[in-house]
Amino acid sequence: MEKITMEKMVNLCKQYGFIYQGSEIYDGLANTWDYGPLGSRLKNNIKDAWRKRFVQDNKNSYELDAAILMNPEVWVASGHVSSFSDPLIDCKECKSRYRADKLIEEFSEGKETGDGWDNEKLKKYIRENNIPCPKCGKTNFTSIRQFNLLFETHMGVTEDTKNKVYLRGETAQGIFVNFMNVQRSMRAKVPFGIAQIGKAFRNEITPGNFIFRTREFEQMEYEFFCKPGTDLEWFKYFEEYCMRFLKDLGIKEENLRLRKHKPEELVFYSKGTTDIEYNYPNGFGELWGIADRTDYDLTVHSNHSGKDLKYLDPETNEKYTPYVIEPSVGCDRLLLAVLCDSYEEETLEDGSTREVMHFLPSIAPYKVAVLPLMKKYHQEKAEEIYNMLSKEFMTSYDETGNIGKRYRRQDVIGTPYCVTIDEETLNNNTVTVRDRDTMEQVTIKVDELVDYIKEKVRF
Ligand code: GAP
Repeated sequence: MEKITMEKMVNLCKQYGFIYQGSEIYDGLANTWDYGPLGSRLKNNIKDAWRKRFVQDNKNSYELDAAILMNPEVWVASGHVSSFSDPLIDCKECKSRYRADKLIEEFSEGKETGDGWDNEKLKKYIRENNIPCPKCGKTNFTSIRQFNLLFETHMGVTEDTKNKVYLRGETAQGIFVNFMNVQRSMRAKVPFGIAQIGKAFRNEITPGNFIFRTREFEQMEYEFFCKPGTDLEWFKYFEEYCMRFLKDLGIKEENLRLRKHKPEELVFYSKGTTDIEYNYPNGFGELWGIADRTDYDLTVHSNHSGKDLKYLDPETNEKYTPYVIEPSVGCDRLLLAVLCDSYEEETLEDGSTREVMHFLPSIAPYKVAVLPLMKKYHQEKAEEIYNMLSKEFMTSYDETGNIGKRYRRQDVIGTPYCVTIDEETLNNNTVTVRDRDTMEQVTIKVDELVDYIKEKVRF
């Protein structure tokens, strides 16, 4: 199947109400995007699926919703203030600005990522390989400077350094600083996990590729606290757990791959990191990062705050700082993967084409559409059935245009089931239910319709 281009995806998302350019009527604000009626439903459904798998399905998992603004000392302790930065390089000729590591990654077609390299090593690689500026083709670059990605703002009425705060650069820190609160209030026993979904902000040097890299985005992070020595086992477990979740979400196996970080790429506190990459329209890119963060986070917060963050094992009386395995996925990147993976331009037997979004039914924005065959005769009964279905599911109602065109519209927005109301409905209280993927229709009694759909849209 041919891959959809990013440009086509951006247009399709706008046309059908998935995603719009941010602040569009003011000519936009670079790389900001607003989720429309269908996009926000899809995103919520993806979050619900993640929440089900990472919180509900595990009795030792707890969800948290921490504040975006935190005491700035959190970011000093975590190392973000001193070293949450990317290597910035400018082309002296055309003034284009790049991330030096990404310049190398693109030039080497992914063979080198530049992850974990210092400025010296990055500069040497660029010089020795004569990497040209992708825009003007010249090889005249500035030196590399580190650019901190934290967004700063001020709390209160005066803007001085005393009341400087940061928009969180990741949701994870909200979890680490609440480790003791959750452990004590929930009487949680190690191993246990804390999950959080929320916005994160990074002043990215080169945002782009639609919603792949933006300055405001959402993360779904899971911090799993385990006994030191058991961490590598859990790390493996979560690699498989995350991969299974993606496949269960309907993402095709051939579009996913694991990339294990080489030892020289690892951040200093990490014992191991694996990325799950998805084959986006512009090639494979990081979707999900799974890291063994050791006891780094709890140790630095304990040292910096002066609070004891050690866990006392009630059975053995052992006191230790738990290790952390962290599967962290970007909600927007996952949504983009779902959109790209679900889209198909299908050639039908009669030679015409139809565009379809093959969303897994449980995450589709609308689960079902109610379509009266002829508005004049079937509208009243259709509204009755719409009222019945909409109590249970997100239901679309469309009575405008010919039935074929209405089916096509539901196909492209990914509605898995279309219920047609016709003379049979009036005479026998039955409806036809059309399956989006096979286009086959079955006759169902109205009384059995809710249960029929319910069974099909469960995750
Ligand atoms: N707590 C670990 C952490 O934040 P990360 O690899 O920097 O790790 C985790 O981010 C995930 O968040 C990434 O795998 C990606 O899916 C998503 N992400 C990171 N930066 C992003 C950005 N600028 N725009 C959209 N998603 C982003």
